[in-house]
Amino acid sequence: MPASDQAPHTPSPQGRAQHPDSSPSAERPKPLHLALNSVFERVRSLKDGEVASYIPELARENPDQMGIALASVRGTTHEMGDSAAEFTIQSVSKPFVFALALEQLGLAEVTTHVGLEPSGEPFNAISLEEASGRPLNPMINAGAIVTTSLITGDTAADKFEVIRRGLSAFAGRTLTVDEAVFESEVETGDRNRALAYLAKSAGTLASSAEVATRAYFRQCAMGVNARDLAIMAATLAGGGVNPITRERVVSENVARWTMAVMTSCGMYDASGEWLVRVGLPAKSGVGGGIVALQPEQFGIGTFSPRLNDRGNSVRGVAMLEELSQRFGLHMLEHRAEPLSPIGEISRAGDSADDDVSAHLRGDLKFGDAEHVLTELLPELESGGTLTLDFGAVTRVGAPAARLFRWAEAGARPTDAGKRRLVLHDPEHVLGD
Ligand code: DON
Repeated sequence: MPASDQAPHTPSPQGRAQHPDSSPSAERPKPLHLALNSVFERVRSLKDGEVASYIPELARENPDQMGIALASVRGTTHEMGDSAAEFTIQSVSKPFVFALALEQLGLAEVTTHVGLEPSGEPFNAISLEEASGRPLNPMINAGAIVTTSLITGDTAADKFEVIRRGLSAFAGRTLTVDEAVFESEVETGDRNRALAYLAKSAGTLASSAEVATRAYFRQCAMGVNARDLAIMAATLAGGGVNPITRERVVSENVARWTMAVMTSCGMYDASGEWLVRVGLPAKSGVGGGIVALQPEQFGIGTFSPRLNDRGNSVRGVAMLEELSQRFGLHMLEHRAEPLSPIGEISRAGDSADDDVSAHLRGDLKFGDAEHVLTELLPELESGGTLTLDFGAVTRVGAPAARLFRWAEAGARPTDAGKRRLVLHDPEHVLGD
């Protein structure tokens, strides 16, 4: 296991940018390395918090370890410190198992068993809604155990195998169980058993309490490192596609639902403050790991075993807070004026009723379509033909495409039979 206090810039796999298509180059400038290092150095001196000991085996972890990894949705990874050190995933598994359950059963079925509301309570709270018997959300233990019970399989071993394969697909490598941590939680996990029995009696657990808790304990004892967590998070950020293996692990809808629950509930009773200060969907675990992500951009994994009183890694929280604030990563950060989706506009002549052609560009979303149509449809009032040229457009989201099609249908042909709004789409980015 690498020493935690080693200089992060020591030549080693740590602190290197890695791209799937090229070998790391010592000469290449590494701005991301400098960014991670600036955060790493500020947080390194923090010694607050305690390593979790309610699962006795976790108390054996070296408390000084500290690692961070960032994986972009394009498949580049950057790592620093103890990013290759293995620890148990614990509660960081919860959003990924929730995603697997959603993929199998859909949102409607899953939410008859577990709710989507932040509990504002600690991770091990006795949380069941009065009327429905559902745990409040899948990020707290009660909800996570119910989620695990929903996974296909009659036995704990069958369920766990589905989970192991699914989480391995998220990480892009085969993950295995730390048997000592698993046994330690089996011996001491009575509170979780109690939560499972309560959910069973309320009718929301989908298996026996024994099967659900055993599969859940194994899920929590899976070994990962910060790099795995970054790639798992990047898979969600990329809409369900693993950025390294390019495997689709879950659908875009499932990735979005999962990120939404991480946003509202991922940091337990610290979720509201986290959303204000850091503003990234995240999930923590008592093994010392945290995953965070910026949708469509990247995933981050941090590791440092000392925890605060909410069960979140002290240095992990500090690293993410620092990163977010220094580099403006908050997902609600106001962005500078984006590139206009309207490029060059050409007119056939000088008169207002001449035909107009507008070249669109970029990745067009609903708001871009709204902007294009609001800006350009008035051209139709003067009587010429307006051509929207999609030749330089890389992608059109389905809602944007629908707006363009409605505009096309609404702009009737002239008496001369000339179409007044033409969608010129040589690359078929609008779909059918
Ligand atoms: O169920 C438990 O208590 C542990 N296996 C996981 C809890 C956990 O990671 C809470 N997160 N910060």
